[in-house]
Amino acid sequence: MEEKLKKNLEEIIVRNASPDDLDEIMKIEEKEYGPIDWVVPKEVMKYRLKNCYFKEPGDLFWVAVKDQQIVGYITGMIINFDPKNPPNTRREAIGYKRASDGKEYGFGTKHNPNGNALYVMSIGVLEKGKGIASKLIQTTVDFVKNNGYNGLQYRVAGLRSGYAEFVKRNPDITPEQYIQLRREDGQYVDGFMRLYSRFGFKELCMKKDYAPEDKVGEGWGNIMVWENKDYIGKFVCLEGPVRYLREMGISARYPTKKEMKGFSEE
Ligand SMILES: CC(C)(COP(=O)(O)OP(=O)(O)OC[C@H]1O[C@@H](n2cnc3c(N)ncnc32)[C@H](O)[C@@H]1OP(=O)(O)O)[C@@H](O)C(=O)NCCC(=O)NCCS
Repeated sequence: MEEKLKKNLEEIIVRNASPDDLDEIMKIEEKEYGPIDWVVPKEVMKYRLKNCYFKEPGDLFWVAVKDQQIVGYITGMIINFDPKNPPNTRREAIGYKRASDGKEYGFGTKHNPNGNALYVMSIGVLEKGKGIASKLIQTTVDFVKNNGYNGLQYRVAGLRSGYAEFVKRNPDITPEQYIQLRREDGQYVDGFMRLYSRFGFKELCMKKDYAPEDKVGEGWGNIMVWENKDYIGKFVCLEGPVRYLREMGISARYPTKKEMKGFSEE
């Protein structure tokens, strides 16, 4: 890795987001998804920060910080995901709700702490090509490993990253063909496929009209899955057994407050 990039990466830390980060996160959201495309209003981001959490608000929302400035974010939610029967639309996957401007957005109302997979809803960076997204994606992969979930799926608008330009030069290529194309060096032509395949994500399927509001990506969704090789069932254990199971290489996680209800202190 180039020394400069390496140093830059070392200076970036990833931490859980807090509600105080909202304004800085919105700056990135507006820069990356606005003004006419796919930006969500502040109230949607606020909802995600407060409601899509694992143990505490913000636990499924991470920010990358450099020199005390937020330079990227990634957020997700826990859902029930069956790779044999993947969602047909983003609306179905994450849940939409009407905001105060009268329009519907992907708030993430389907967050279910008892689900089996992490679904990444959104990612954005302040400055591209500096490895910020890679660092954030690695955080979600570690989260899935450490908390005993079996997978992480990510809705990639495959066409956002250059299909429109590509198809001008190659008018006969279909989105499904495009997503599979490789460069001479063996890497994917598509930017998102290139990025996610480096972490071991595999393409599951392409869905037309997955997110019609994504104008740049022409609504297409490319569902990618990262499988947790350690997953052999979701363990919910108390502290001692969790550590023991992890030492044995088995995924385990702590019970949530809700799951603990009904247990006596004895
Ligand atoms: C896509 C995105 C998150 C990548 O962030 P990043 O910090 O630049 O990524 P990294 O530096 O960690 O990795 C670089 C890799 O990301 C991919 N990438 C970078 N910019 C990209 C872009 N505009 N479109 C598609 N892929 C891109 C490439 O695979 C690149 O690898 P390469 O250098 O070998 O070409 C960032 O460009 C972004 O915020 N885009 C706008 C928002 C968006 O479209 N998000 C996804 C919605 S589904």
